[in-house]
Amino acid sequence: MLRVFITGANRGIGLGLAGQCLQRGDRVFAGCRNPEQATELHRLQDQHGDRLTVLPLDVTDQSAIDSAVTTVEGFVDGLDLLVNNAGVGGGEDPFGQLAEEGLIDTFRVNAVAPILLAQAMLPLLKKGQRPVIASVTSRMGSIADNGSGGYYAYRASKAALNMLHKSLAVDLAQQGIITVVLHPGWVRTDMGGQGGRLSVEESVAGLLQVVDGLTETDSGRFFDWRGKKVPW
Ligand SMILES: NC(=O)c1ccc[n+]([C@@H]2O[C@H](COP(=O)([O-])OP(=O)(O)OC[C@H]3O[C@@H](n4cnc5c(N)ncnc54)[C@H](OP(=O)(O)O)[C@@H]3O)[C@@H](O)[C@H]2O)c1
Repeated sequence: MLRVFITGANRGIGLGLAGQCLQRGDRVFAGCRNPEQATELHRLQDQHGDRLTVLPLDVTDQSAIDSAVTTVEGFVDGLDLLVNNAGVGGGEDPFGQLAEEGLIDTFRVNAVAPILLAQAMLPLLKKGQRPVIASVTSRMGSIADNGSGGYYAYRASKAALNMLHKSLAVDLAQQGIITVVLHPGWVRTDMGGQGGRLSVEESVAGLLQVVDGLTETDSGRFFDWRGKKVPW
């Protein structure tokens, strides 16, 4: 049984992760911006009872991050898996119409928040069993793979997340904490749209299989949901 913390757990891939982790017996902490409106999480709570704690977490709010740490500490003495899943698409403003606010807001959620959450959760992760920090990135953040341009805010924020993770992997290597960035595939969610190639269930099953199979030598790598390495 893993002790798992997931951000953006009220819908899409985050909700799917919470559901599959609970299904297999894990202890889940599900962060979301509006717990009172998280009807799907409440349905999971009815099914899985006290193995699920739903907590308020806007990932851009440092005081909410600190409160989340305190809440988790009230239930468990360590965390085995932190999944930074919350993310925003960042809009599709083309070059010529880019504005500072949209770029910075996207960076805050997609790049800055995951690293600050990892920092805040570090004491709990240090007490975990084979602890893993996995951030859901995107192939669109791969510089090598960018042949079609556009999506400035999203692509750059995920590339930044990838680099932050690379440093994290180096810095945490001596402490036995594995950190990876994971591309979930093109998934049918609000963000991915209905044209996506994968259902949430397929993507999440793959992501969890990848996380379960990680070893220390995988730390600092960029994998997709099938465990294939993605070029940086
Ligand atoms: N779907 C795809 O094809 C695809 C492909 C590559 C990567 N990804 C990545 O996968 C992750 C999940 O995406 P998804 O497809 O499941 O998207 P989604 O259905 O749009 O869900 C996004 C989730 O992130 C949460 N979120 C956004 N801003 C937040 C904030 N400031 N604080 C806390 N939570 C916040 C949302 O909460 P609210 O409900 O409160 O807005 C929601 O729970 C993202 O990091 C995304 O970049 C998705």
